[in-house]
Amino acid sequence: MNRKYRKTIIAGNWKMNMTNSGIKPFMEELKANMPKAKQCDVVLCTPAVMIQTMVKAGKDCKVAAGGQDVSIYDKGAYTGEVSATMLEDIGAKYCIVGHSERRQYHGETDMMVNAKAKKLLEKGINPIICVGESLEQRENDLTMEYVAYQVKAALSGIDATALRHCVIAYEPIWAIGTGKTATSEQAQEVCEEIRAVIRKIYGARPARAVSILYGGSMNAKNAYELLAQPDIDGGLIGGASLKPADFATIVAATAQD
Ligand code: PGA
Repeated sequence: MNRKYRKTIIAGNWKMNMTNSGIKPFMEELKANMPKAKQCDVVLCTPAVMIQTMVKAGKDCKVAAGGQDVSIYDKGAYTGEVSATMLEDIGAKYCIVGHSERRQYHGETDMMVNAKAKKLLEKGINPIICVGESLEQRENDLTMEYVAYQVKAALSGIDATALRHCVIAYEPIWAIGTGKTATSEQAQEVCEEIRAVIRKIYGARPARAVSILYGGSMNAKNAYELLAQPDIDGGLIGGASLKPADFATIVAATAQD
């Protein structure tokens, strides 16, 4: 982390878990465990049908609500889709785009990820843009090349002013939901490279100001060490964000210099 230049963000990704009625007890437990003075922004990205409840429930403990996906279209005959306008209207502050599960199971391309990020930015919602390599790519030494490509594609046509509202999440696919975390060195190495790619496009200052998160089996035990890395500005947390006490411990782990 480097709080002097950029925001620290702890974002939970609930994926397709929980229910609306589970939010109240969850938030009560989270609040009871959360440090009083937080050193970071805290976000919970819920399924779309729960965002509104999360907006309300998160108010008194300053937890922002986020979505997990957004349509590339503004409105119209796109059954099942949720637009950036709708997310803005219910108070979502962040939205994940390009999560590897969406890329893998829903055919989301780099062009779509880019279009989604732009739609969110138009509505003042911060996109959390996910990138990350597969195990095969890592084993073939293609990690840096692939991640650099994904970052460039996702940010294509986004200017430096809009970049300030973008968050990048480095999530190696082999570490997601597997209990296999990248070592803090591996995670740092790629996050540093992501910042270098952004520096080449936008220059030193914008690159220094972008928050880059790590995601992939981050938990209450390994968070402190991962967050101690200079280019890791927070976490995108799946499994552990469903356990209020663990999530609160990860938030507390941001209180380090
Ligand atoms: P995980 O998920 O923490 O359960 O590995 C992270 C993510 O997919 O965002």
